[in-house]
Amino acid sequence: MYKYRIRGGNRIRGALGVCGGKNAALPILAATVLSEGESVIHNCPRIADIDVSMEILRHLGCRVDFTENTLTVNAHGANVSAIPSHLACKMRSSILFMGALLGRLREVRVCSPGGCNIGSRPIDLHLKGLQAMGAAIEDDGTFMHAKASTLKGKPISLREASVGATENLMLAAVLADGETILTNAAREPEIMDLARFLNSMGAIVRGAGTSTVRVTGVKKLHGATHRIMPDRIVTGTYLMAAAMNVGDILLSGVNPHDVKIVLAYLRAMGCIIDEKPASLRLRAPRVLSALPYLLTEAHPGFPTDMQAPFVAALSGAKGTSVIEERIFESRAAHAAELVRMGANITMAADESVFVIKGRPRLHGAVVESKDLRGGAALILAGLAAEGETVVLDKGYVARGYEGLPEALRSVGGEVWVE
Ligand code: EPZ
Repeated sequence: MYKYRIRGGNRIRGALGVCGGKNAALPILAATVLSEGESVIHNCPRIADIDVSMEILRHLGCRVDFTENTLTVNAHGANVSAIPSHLACKMRSSILFMGALLGRLREVRVCSPGGCNIGSRPIDLHLKGLQAMGAAIEDDGTFMHAKASTLKGKPISLREASVGATENLMLAAVLADGETILTNAAREPEIMDLARFLNSMGAIVRGAGTSTVRVTGVKKLHGATHRIMPDRIVTGTYLMAAAMNVGDILLSGVNPHDVKIVLAYLRAMGCIIDEKPASLRLRAPRVLSALPYLLTEAHPGFPTDMQAPFVAALSGAKGTSVIEERIFESRAAHAAELVRMGANITMAADESVFVIKGRPRLHGAVVESKDLRGGAALILAGLAAEGETVVLDKGYVARGYEGLPEALRSVGGEVWVE
């Protein structure tokens, strides 16, 4: 159990660099097994989920080295198709190795990823798509075993614009016979980053970032060098830390275009934001304004991963805000914890609508994080609250944020982890 100890009240002021994106790096690391060559991945975040991915790659027979933020994978020796359950169950994104291992070895065994604290998170779209391409999949509820003598490119229409399903099917399609057309594909920037990496390996992927992705299968892929895109959720989290503390923060190594809608809402809350091609400066108002209504949607809509930090910020805003979580069915565990800090949040419509009556100041409390973004939101709330807050965390925050306490301390936040 991690214990984050936060003393609230300091203004957040200073400059921070933003690391590479967790949700871009994870599918790209899975993609490295698609070639027999060596891939070099720069700007890779040093977070727990990357550590798990490296262990999986090594188990599959790859040579992996991680120096500073550069991760090198030599996948020549990849010949193991089963992912050990102690690794796969640590990280839901291990499901992304299904498409990659079917592409490279035409076989994969992996444990069925359970739900988690933000919802049931089914993988039916992944499985249906892989089956359409020719994979035979046995699923006993604990393990899945998929085999494909050949993988055939197919037109596949996704019922939901699922990020993971889009990525998994791209990974399976690049070495399939013929063309795969994914319609209602997810449009997140991480999909585009994956396509850039796959194309640099010799794949033919077109339309990434739109709702129709076309993949023309090729015979072989080679290793490639790639720089992971900036983490847009870490970008939003750091901006929010300053926004909640009458702060003034300058972020470098960011892509303002990827956080366009988040910036629009931060401006609506009263923040002044200056944009440059790779940097952002946010100056916060003395008091944030409420947001009458905010809905989480697939990209380019408002990202669900920024919902919890916004709930935390709006808890201290002037006025009443309403946030509707439309992507995951139970991404609300942080609400009860914020209420323990004095927030006035009521849930409606089966825990998917937050009605937040802003209060001048939250107060410190002992709270518990139940998921990655909720944990970050509680730390931000602690920075803005009166007194001391302790966030008990089972390792969620470390899965997605590289050195969050050190980063926040470097801009005036009093955050320590035990
Ligand atoms: C990715 O999860 C991200 N994770 C999530 O970030 C992010 O919140 C989510 O996309 C939405 O943007 C990674 O990229 C590693 P989905 P993913 O498939 O792929 C339903 C974080 O905090 N669905 O786009 O699992 C599903 O239940 C994490 O960094 C099906 O019904 O999300 C959900 O309601 C949390 N069947 C919706 O689609 C399926 O087969 C969107 O899920 C797949 C998904």
